[in-house]
This record gives sequence, structure tokens and C-alpha cells, in this order.
Amino acid sequence: MSIEDLYSEIVLEHYKEPHNVGEIQSPEIFAKGFNESCGDDIKIFARVKDNKIEDIKFLGKGCAISQSSASMMTDLLKGKSINEVKEFIKAFNKKITGEENFPEDSDEWFELSALKGVIKFPIRVKCASLAWHTLAQGIRDYENKLIRRNNEQL
Ligand code: FES
Repeated sequence: MSIEDLYSEIVLEHYKEPHNVGEIQSPEIFAKGFNESCGDDIKIFARVKDNKIEDIKFLGKGCAISQSSASMMTDLLKGKSINEVKEFIKAFNKKITGEENFPEDSDEWFELSALKGVIKFPIRVKCASLAWHTLAQGIRDYENKLIRRNNEQL
């Protein structure tokens, strides 16, 4: 099996049986994202405990790339601290836009590497990035809420 076939298989497996699909009630992090080039959307929910992503789920509709990317993202980010998640999102954005290479010897990045075929197609990059941009927005909203709450208590 060629590496391209393996990558297609990884994407299709996540598309057919996506991980972490669903809602979290009263999530600390919530955001809705929308891909204006196709009309597909996604909602991301995350439970934060001790500054870590204790649980993360998504709901949405979209192409195989967007759904598999959301499935892999939620698998990988569960258990990371908010700062680690922010760094991971930045690193993913650099890789999926071709600014940096996907590491070849990293277990953590192996499945995500299956998405690298989209790099040459800006429209498809939007599909792969939808969940990641949406989560980044949710984290910004969450952090702003914390700042406002802290300011009110001063
Ligand atoms: Fe809509 Fe990919 S075509 S998210």
C-alpha cells in the first residue's frame, strides 16, 4: 500500500466513524464555525478542568476532510492544557498551509499528516482548518470571559 493510499484510508476511517461526535452540556468552551466557501458548519464543545481540556466534542456537517480533521483534532487535544492546545493549533495552521512541514517521525502528527494532500488547494485547506479555527475562536472567547470575570472581582 502506498503512503497516499494509507493517508486516504485514515481520512475515510475518521469520516465514516468520526470520534468525539456529540454535545457537552454547559461547556466552558463553545464555538460555531462556518466555511463560507461551501456553507458547511461545525460546533465545538469543550469541558475545561484545572486549565486542561478534560473533554471535547463536535457536531457538524461537511466533507470527509473537514469531518476527519475534527475527529483527529478532538482525539489529539483531549487532556492537553489550554496553552498546549493553543500552540498545537498554531503549529497545525502552519503545517496545513505549507509554511512548515509535517514532522515525519512523530506519532502525534502521523494521522494529521494524512491531511497534507490539501496543501496545494486553498479551498480544501479551509475544510481541513474549519474545526481548528473554530476551536481557536472558542478559546479566545473563553479567555476573554475569564478576564472579564477577574476584572469584575477586582
Ligand atoms: Fe464544506 Fe469541506 S466542502 S467543509
